[in-house]
Amino acid sequence: MPAFAPFRPMGLTHGVHRMLLPLFIALGATGAVVLAWAVSPWWWWAAAVLLALTALAVRDLAQRRHAVLRNRPLLGHLRFLPRPDDGDVRGIVYERAGGVEAEEPFGTGLDLYGNGYEYLEPSMCPVEMPDEPPVVRVGGPDCTQPYDMALLNVSAMSFGALSSHAILALSRGAALGGFAHDTGEGGLSDHHLRGGGDLIWEIGSGYFGCRTPEGGFEAREFADKAALPEVKCVSLKLSQGAQPGIGGVLPGAKVSAEIARARGAPKGEAVVSPPYHRVFSTPRELVCFLARMRELAGGKPTGFKLCVGSRRQFLAVCKAMLAEGVSPDFIVVDGAEGGTGAAPPEFAASLGTPLTEGLITVHNALVGTGLRDRVRIGASGRVATGSDIVKRLAQGADYTNAARAMMFALGCLQARRCHTNTCPVGVATQDPRRVRALDVADKSARVHRYQRATVRSASRIMAAMGVRDPAELGPHQLLRRTDPATVRSYAQLYEWLEPGVLLAEPPASWEADWKAADPDAF
Ligand SMILES: Cc1cc2nc3c(=O)[nH]c(=O)nc-3n(C[C@H](O)[C@H](O)[C@H](O)COP(=O)(O)O)c2cc1C
Repeated sequence: MPAFAPFRPMGLTHGVHRMLLPLFIALGATGAVVLAWAVSPWWWWAAAVLLALTALAVRDLAQRRHAVLRNRPLLGHLRFLPRPDDGDVRGIVYERAGGVEAEEPFGTGLDLYGNGYEYLEPSMCPVEMPDEPPVVRVGGPDCTQPYDMALLNVSAMSFGALSSHAILALSRGAALGGFAHDTGEGGLSDHHLRGGGDLIWEIGSGYFGCRTPEGGFEAREFADKAALPEVKCVSLKLSQGAQPGIGGVLPGAKVSAEIARARGAPKGEAVVSPPYHRVFSTPRELVCFLARMRELAGGKPTGFKLCVGSRRQFLAVCKAMLAEGVSPDFIVVDGAEGGTGAAPPEFAASLGTPLTEGLITVHNALVGTGLRDRVRIGASGRVATGSDIVKRLAQGADYTNAARAMMFALGCLQARRCHTNTCPVGVATQDPRRVRALDVADKSARVHRYQRATVRSASRIMAAMGVRDPAELGPHQLLRRTDPATVRSYAQLYEWLEPGVLLAEPPASWEADWKAADPDAF
């Protein structure tokens, strides 16, 4: 047994397990009543406490609002005890999801004089906040069905990593709020479609949902599913911040009939996503495959997601775009600080570029090659609040996605058991009893409220900065303390390329990578 595996009495199902504590307490209460009659009236005190706990346990089991209380009656009330890594982000998400305006009395408790403190620049002449939340049009010159993307969307999380109820609640939340929900690489499931939200269908190296029996890409199936009206965009996943460069195996035991159907794989057999894609091995082939995806998808916006590694490799992709005259409609940059259902700790901690540098690299490369106007940039990696959104927009993104914050909105307690199938709130598990405890109607409303309040907060911040259109934001408006006496803007801290400069006269700092970038070899 691993040292920190959660204790579970052997041989007991979850249903029996969750009833044990209430049963013991009810038995204790009965015993105390008997003793009060037979031995001493002092036992009434113990009986009163135990009867009250029994009543609370019955209420926990009967209510539908909190999955954790149904799954863990009585013990679930301890969920608000502080944890070592508890920031206030989870609290803000819970409050916004619950419909409470997350506001603080008395001012911030942050150390504003510590190195690394960041702030946005308010204007002496703020503007009115817009009535409608801003959207960003995604769709370059080769796209025939552009999509208006919200500033905050649900980041990729598969059915398999998340439960059916969690997927359905996210999709319904997206439908209520008019934002996009990325399917994750585990295929397009009935739960995604039933929710009615706008979907970004992601395919990874396993091509789940459009997969040949040998594990290759099946074009006909892809085209049929991409044509569904719920699918607004299609996305090719190259890598993920928490685990760049590794594929994955879903063990046969987890490949239920439903998951097998969504992934297009045989039930009960392990499904493998290789670490690399079979459909391309050079930057040019990648770009041509993206063009093929867009054609098969009837001209819907098509893009890719990556955690940035080598700048030279990304420049090679830009050169391939220029050579082929083809560009994706969007690129999602995922920071190394991103989340995962399960990844080796070394990968999460030591591989990949953090979001700030990854985002600025991709933005600069597209600006420097004159491609920025055609390609929208999405950013993901610990985006949870309005100021997170505005900071990423100031650093070069056009919109943002959130995964773990959306999990919080669904009721995630950060139990960190996503990989054990024992998630106490029914979010990241396939155990049917735990899944049933997640009330879809309640949680979809929470997802909707959280997204709406967070985008509203971003709009309010931009208005305070005197910004009417998110496209007006720039790196000069985001400041960072670099030592006790120095504050510098992102415009000063990083190099920002002029449009087309890499084609005309690459600056010395980019010249070596630009020269070495080869559209026919990574
Ligand atoms: C449970 C879970 C499952 C995920 N599954 C996928 C996936 O299937 N495809 C993908 O591209 N990213 C996946 N991700 C990564 C997220 O989409 C996102 O890029 C990353 O977590 C950063 O966002 P965050 O900091 O808001 O969580 C997953 C993340 C989590 C937490």
